Amino acid sequence: MEFIKRPRRLRLNSAIRDMVRETRLDVKDLIYPLFVVHGEKVKQEINSMPGVYRFSIDTLVEEVKEIYSLGIPAILLFGVPSVKDEVGSEAYADDGIVQRAIKAVKDAVPSMFVITDVCMCGYTSHGHCGIVERGYVVNDKTVELISKTALSHARAGADMVAPSDMMDGRVGAIRKLLDEKGYSNVSIMAYSAKYASAFFGPFREAAESAPKFGDRKTYQMDPANSDEAMREIKLDIEEGSDIVMVKPALSYLDIIRRAKESFNIPVAAYNVSGEYAMLKAAAKMGWLDEKAVAMEILTSIKRAGADLIITYFAKDVATWLTTR
Ligand code: PBG
Ligand code: ZN
Repeated sequence: MEFIKRPRRLRLNSAIRDMVRETRLDVKDLIYPLFVVHGEKVKQEINSMPGVYRFSIDTLVEEVKEIYSLGIPAILLFGVPSVKDEVGSEAYADDGIVQRAIKAVKDAVPSMFVITDVCMCGYTSHGHCGIVERGYVVNDKTVELISKTALSHARAGADMVAPSDMMDGRVGAIRKLLDEKGYSNVSIMAYSAKYASAFFGPFREAAESAPKFGDRKTYQMDPANSDEAMREIKLDIEEGSDIVMVKPALSYLDIIRRAKESFNIPVAAYNVSGEYAMLKAAAKMGWLDEKAVAMEILTSIKRAGADLIITYFAKDVATWLTTR
């Protein structure tokens, strides 16, 4: 007997749609980025990122308690130093802003999983992710300071370090130094396929980390490339990365999918500041439904293959998921 095929039967009502849903966002997939500054009682909203703030350590601790109570398992810490110099000294200072923040957070909320961004751009006077010589960001000297920074974070109590500088060989150098100093349980999430993207604009306002000259194209990847991303990821895995990351997320869903299919390792995706700002702006204008679009975006990132998602929407999502 001939009969018409009816795929719509599986969409008939919410019960059956729930049963056949292939991708489910979970609060446990989420990592919340946080910016920490010197001072006291600071909670300063970032212009181009409504709902995202720079916190001083005291207000940060209160924020982390709230994040933890929402069920979000991990935070990603970024520091804004008091002084910037050519060599980014505060990045690897034991009493630097991030190092102090890690201790305070771990004291107050020991079970919060603390990840730190490891880079120089927020700490250097020129705003580049490493040591600049004759206008060029030199690799190996930068790697030394990046490793030193990672070690200082581990000493302060970080659970995981996330190098975002895109220098060659940094994952191996960090792994070696951490192991030598007794931090073999501190894990590494490498920003492996990090693109030279214009979507980082709002972040650079938040972290005061925009380059004072030139751009980041000699170290971050060309958005046109996909094979190169697989080579970068492969190297980071060989060097000892525990998790690899693709960043940004939304314009790079194909890279996320390819990474997931090519390597047997957890893949993280960073839903970056510009992706957040675009939706916030459209929602403010009344042009997009913020909740619906945010959930659709994050679901698509997970569907593409991301096991973990770093997102400024984490708190909102945690709330939305429990009040459905
Ligand atoms: C530092 C760093 C950047 C981001 C994360 N770590 C900015 C950059 O490389 O210029 C971007 C995060 C975002 O846009 O949300 N290297
Ligand atoms: Zn950087």
